[in-house]
Amino acid sequence: MCGIVGVLGNHEAAPILVEALKRLEYRGYDSAGIATINDGTLDRRRAVGKLVNLGDLLVHEPLAGKSGIGHTRWATHGEPNVSNAHPHRSGSVAVVHNGIIENFRELRAELAEYGITPETDTDTETVAMLAQHFMSQGLSPTEAATKTIGKLEGAFALAFLFDGNDDLIIAARKGSPLAIGYGDGEMFVGSDAIALSPMTDRISYLEEGDYAILTREGASVFNAAGEPANREIRKIQISATRIDKGGHKHFMAKEIAEQPTVIAEALGHYLSKSDEIRLPDPAIDFSQVERITMVACGTAFLACLTAKYWFEQIARLPVEVDVASEFRYREPPIPGKSVALFVSQSGETADTLAALRYCDGKADKIVSVVNVPESSIARESDLALPIHAGVEIGVASTKAFTCQLTVLFLLALKAATDRGELSEEARQDHLAQLRRLPALMSEALEQNDAVRETARKLANARDVLFLGRGPLYPLAHEGALKLKEISYIHAEAYASGELKHGPIALIDEEVPVVVMAPRDTLFDKTVSNMQEVMARKGKVILISDRGGLSEASEGVWDTVVMPDVSDAVAPILYALPAQLLAYHTAVAKGTDVDQPRNLAKSVTVE
Ligand code: F6R
Repeated sequence: MCGIVGVLGNHEAAPILVEALKRLEYRGYDSAGIATINDGTLDRRRAVGKLVNLGDLLVHEPLAGKSGIGHTRWATHGEPNVSNAHPHRSGSVAVVHNGIIENFRELRAELAEYGITPETDTDTETVAMLAQHFMSQGLSPTEAATKTIGKLEGAFALAFLFDGNDDLIIAARKGSPLAIGYGDGEMFVGSDAIALSPMTDRISYLEEGDYAILTREGASVFNAAGEPANREIRKIQISATRIDKGGHKHFMAKEIAEQPTVIAEALGHYLSKSDEIRLPDPAIDFSQVERITMVACGTAFLACLTAKYWFEQIARLPVEVDVASEFRYREPPIPGKSVALFVSQSGETADTLAALRYCDGKADKIVSVVNVPESSIARESDLALPIHAGVEIGVASTKAFTCQLTVLFLLALKAATDRGELSEEARQDHLAQLRRLPALMSEALEQNDAVRETARKLANARDVLFLGRGPLYPLAHEGALKLKEISYIHAEAYASGELKHGPIALIDEEVPVVVMAPRDTLFDKTVSNMQEVMARKGKVILISDRGGLSEASEGVWDTVVMPDVSDAVAPILYALPAQLLAYHTAVAKGTDVDQPRNLAKSVTVE
C-alpha cells in the first residue's frame, strides 16, 4: 500500500514524478503529493483523493526543480486529508513512506522531551521529525537519515529529500519493496519497476534492511549491518505502452478481455509441443511429498482453495489451505516432507510474505506462484512459478486469478504424474481441455452483452448469494468477492449443499442467487439446492452450459450460457461470467471500477 518515487534528474521533476505516481496509483489513492528542490529550496504540493487532484493543483501552483520525491497514499494512520498527505516535512527533511512505523508513539514520546511535537496524525511524520532532530544535533543528512532508519520498527520503504541539497536521496527498505533505477546521469527510486519504466529499464532491488545513498552519479547500497552491498542491476522488460486501457473503458474490462491471450501465453511457457509440463529450475519431485500447505490472501487464497480440489482429487495429495493473516500467527506445525506453496499476484503481500518466512527452514520446499518474478515472495522461494498474466492494474484481480488457476492446475498434473496417480490417457484429456481453454474463454466472453443485461437487474439488489459445489464452491466465493469489492453490494457465497443448514433463512423475493453449475457430476445435486431456493421465491441466475440450461432453467430469473468444459477445468472458465457480472453491475451502479473505495492493489501492510 502506498507508492513512493524519487528522482534526481536532468529535467523538470514534477511531471516525471506525477507520471510515476500514475503507475503507482494502484497502491492507494487516498491522497497524493510531491516535493521538489528548486534553487536549493524544498517545497511540496499535496492533494486529497486521486492523483488527478494533485495534477490540477500543480497547474495552478506549479513546482519547479529537477530533484524530487512523490507519494500516493492508502491511509493507515490518520484520515485522508491534506495535512496527513505525504511528503511529510520537518524542518529541512521531507519523507515519503510506504508501510507502518510500529514504534512511532515511542519515538514521538522521545522527541517530545526535546519539545518536538507532531503536526499530523501519521506515523510517517515521526521519521522526518527524527531525522531533522539528528540534523539539528549536527549530523549530516546522510548520517541523520541512517541513524533514523536504525531506530524504526515495522515495515517501510522510505525516501528522504533534504532542503538545500538537490543531489541526494536516501532510500531504505524493510518489509516493503523498493527498486533503484539507473539512468544516464540521473537516478530514480520507486516502489516497483513499473513506476520507473518510462525513465529507465536498468533496475536493482534493495534487499531486506538495505539502505541506499543516491546521487546523480549512482547509488551506494548498504546492508542491514551497514556494510557496502552489491545489488545486481538487471535490464527489465516492462513496456510503457502496456499500461493503458487499450480502448476499453476500464483496466478491469481490458484485463477480463485479455484472458484468452494471457492463458495461451502461460500455457506456452509451461507446456511443450509434445505436452511435457516444463517447470523452471530447480526441479521439484512430488513423489515423496506428504502434504502441501497453501497460503495466500483474498482472490489468491480462493485460487488455492480451488487448487486443493485438483491436488487432492487428481494427485491424491493432502492439501491444507489458509489465509496468510491467520496462518502466520497460528504457528501451525509444518511436516518436513511437505511443500509450502504461496500464491500472490503482486508477490509483495505482507501477510503472505511473513507466512513464507515462517515456513522457510520447516517445509522441504518453498514454492510460489506469482505474477511479478522480481517480487520479494518470488525471490525468497526455492522455486518461483510466474503466471505470465502481464501487468494487472485493476484493483479487482481478474486475469491474474485465471492464470494462477492455470499454473496451479498444471502443477497438480505434474504432482499426479510424479506420484503415479494419473494414467497417460487421463493426463492427455486434462491437457487437451487446458489447450482448448483460450478458445473456450473467447466463446464465454461473447456473453458480455447478455451478462450486462443481467447485471442491470443485479444492480438494484442489496444482498446477493453465490452458490457452487466442488471446485465451483471456491469460485462462488470469488464471484461474491468481486461483486462486493467493486459494486459495494453485500454478497456471500455458500457451498450449495450447505444452504439448508442456515443461510436459506436469508432467501426471499428480494435476494438474487447466482448458481454456478456446469453440467458436471454434481449437477443434479446443485439443481436440487437451486430448487429449494426457488421454492422460497429466491431469484436464481443460473450459469451453466447448454445441456445444463435446457435441463434446469425453468422458472429461473435469468441465465448465462457457457461452453461445455470438463469438470476439472470448469472453475477457470466460470471465473469469466463471475467477473463480467461484477464488472457490469459496478458500471451500472456507477462506482469506481478500477479504484474501488478503501482498497489498494498491493497490500504491503498487515
Ligand atoms: C481481489 C484482490 C485481492 C488480492 C489480495 C492478495 O480482487 O485482488 O483479494 O487477491 O489482496 O494480493 P496478492 O495476490 O497480490 O498477494
